[in-house]
Amino acid sequence: MKILTVVGARPQFIKASAVSNVIRKCHKEILVHTGQHYDENMSQVFFEELNIPRPDYNLEVGSGNHGKQTGTMLIKLEEIYIKEKPDFVLVYGDTNSTLAGALCASKLLIPLAHVEAGLRSFNRKMPEEQNRVITDRLSNILFVPTDSAVENLKREGIKEGIYNVGDVMFDAILNFKKLAENKNEIIKELALQDKEYILTTIHRAENTNYIERLKNIVEALNECGKPVVLPLHPRTKKYMTDYGLKFNDNIKVIEPIGYLEMINLEMNSQKIVTDSGGVQKEAFFMKKPCITMRDETEWVETVENGWNIVVGTDKNKILDGIMNFIPDKTQKNIFGKGDAAIKILEVLNK
Ligand code: UD1
Ligand code: UDP
Repeated sequence: MKILTVVGARPQFIKASAVSNVIRKCHKEILVHTGQHYDENMSQVFFEELNIPRPDYNLEVGSGNHGKQTGTMLIKLEEIYIKEKPDFVLVYGDTNSTLAGALCASKLLIPLAHVEAGLRSFNRKMPEEQNRVITDRLSNILFVPTDSAVENLKREGIKEGIYNVGDVMFDAILNFKKLAENKNEIIKELALQDKEYILTTIHRAENTNYIERLKNIVEALNECGKPVVLPLHPRTKKYMTDYGLKFNDNIKVIEPIGYLEMINLEMNSQKIVTDSGGVQKEAFFMKKPCITMRDETEWVETVENGWNIVVGTDKNKILDGIMNFIPDKTQKNIFGKGDAAIKILEVLNK
């Protein structure tokens, strides 16, 4: 079979690192990079570190408003789909690259498979929620990572083609954890001690695009009295400048880093404070307390298991989480066995 995979943003490269090489054992894969993320440290570094196959096409779409970005992807993807005539299109997650890849496949009547299907925040203001609801609706095969994702789809009347394969990001962690253990250059450079620092990421549009929310987050981190390591997403960097917000000296702001460096920082951190989807899960995999600066999460099982608290962007709630949140529960296996890629291949083979 010829499978055409569409990726474009950082978390999708990490997901593809777990799946692409497995699919290629039995099928021909055409890998298309939309160019949604394009900085060396938002894109290239992952292909190099994680041995992801070189994309066959890079659409170089770049940044822009939703309409322009998604529309340009659609125009360019259509040409490639028509030329390549894939048997299946595979998309990951919930970005604009996911939506464009899905919509284009659907219009050309090419069967569509969605990895990380069924996740819901129930907040339709999020671009990601819009992207995933539409992608799931258009998909023929829905690879879901958790039980609650299955339920979400059923509630929306989607009952066919659902496969609970576990989470491909768990596969990625198992594949790269050993290698990441030695990638401790950042801890050395910043002269940090193991388990003494908070690791933070911030990039969610609902936080960056509202000055009050971003200001609260910055103030909480500035006042937490602990060293904080913050690999700063370019979106957040831009808004920090626009709003004139500043970090105190306890915040070690660094450029976005590679996956191995990130996993190393996660495994040696005391707690993780984030608004990222992927980082919430990684906190769980690493058995680190996670404080999520959002009003809801799609990864409800991490909260139910007692390892994640959703605190919104109230400064005092973030501070309280950083100071006081200690998980008191053992972990249940909620993301599968780390063999999601093999299960995806088995389904595609059928
Ligand atoms: C996108 C996804 C989000 C995902 C995130 C992962 C959508 C709607 N959002 O958000 O779901 O969690 O990726 O990181 O698809 N920029 C650069 N260099 C880059 C990429 C981006 O400077 O290589 C800056 C640009 O100013 C750009 C901004 O970041 O306007 C936002 O980038 P964009 O891809 O639109 O969305 P993300 O916030 O990265
Ligand atoms: N990540 C990384 N370097 C960084 C920040 C994050 O490699 O500087 C990884 C992180 O470990 C996780 C993924 O990027 O695997 C999460 O992506 P992101 O937070 O950008 O998007 P989301 O998961 O929220 O869609």
